[in-house]
Amino acid sequence: MKRNAGLVIAIDGVVGSGKTSTAREVARVLGYRHLDTGAMYRAATLAARQAGVAAAETAALADLLSRIRITLLPQHQGGAVLLDGRDVSHRIRSPEITRAVGAYADLPLVRRALIAQQQRLGAEGGVVAEGRDIASVVFPDADLKIRMVADLRARALRRFRELTEKGVSISLEDVVTDIRQRDAEDAARDYGTCAPPTDVIELDTTGMTLNGQVEHIVSLARQRGA
Ligand code: DC
Repeated sequence: MKRNAGLVIAIDGVVGSGKTSTAREVARVLGYRHLDTGAMYRAATLAARQAGVAAAETAALADLLSRIRITLLPQHQGGAVLLDGRDVSHRIRSPEITRAVGAYADLPLVRRALIAQQQRLGAEGGVVAEGRDIASVVFPDADLKIRMVADLRARALRRFRELTEKGVSISLEDVVTDIRQRDAEDAARDYGTCAPPTDVIELDTTGMTLNGQVEHIVSLARQRGA
């Protein structure tokens, strides 16, 4: 589909497949906006926790969602995630939010609000949108749809290195257990998908580097006119 600002590239993938770093870098190379939908669910969860609104309090949650403003700054402006103008990029990745986000992301009222915002942000094209339901629900007519997979061991090793570099002390086996659990949660979650998305290109990143993944997707995007 022809859009004014470029293609809509949809990237989905399993936990630890490297989709966020890859999507961010593809967006930077192409000069596109990185639409990290997971960050939006995380920011909404942070807002609810700060306001003391539990996932079960649907009326209060609907009211809160109508009042908050989630902004994803473009890469050339630093790429931060803002909640009502405040930079929450780090806070939304805390273990507390990671544990809590599933309960909020499961709610149709939360999904409806955030999906509407995501579709507005992508309407003109020029986006690399990333998330579990991106190719099936948010942008079923995306110009390029990628699903990133990798074997469990490779995903655990990447996450383990990332955490160790940040100074977090954790065993590889605990990382494996955590990824297994998040895989199971993902498999059980209803993303509102009626049918599996069509035209999806599966990219197995098990033996690939971040640069390799980015080059591969950028070259597919260029073939489609990016
Ligand atoms: O990709 P991530 O770990 O930042 O995602 C955070 C949470 O939000 C995770 O529980 C999955 C959920 N999510 C979702 O339900 N729909 C999306 N499009 C993206 C993320």
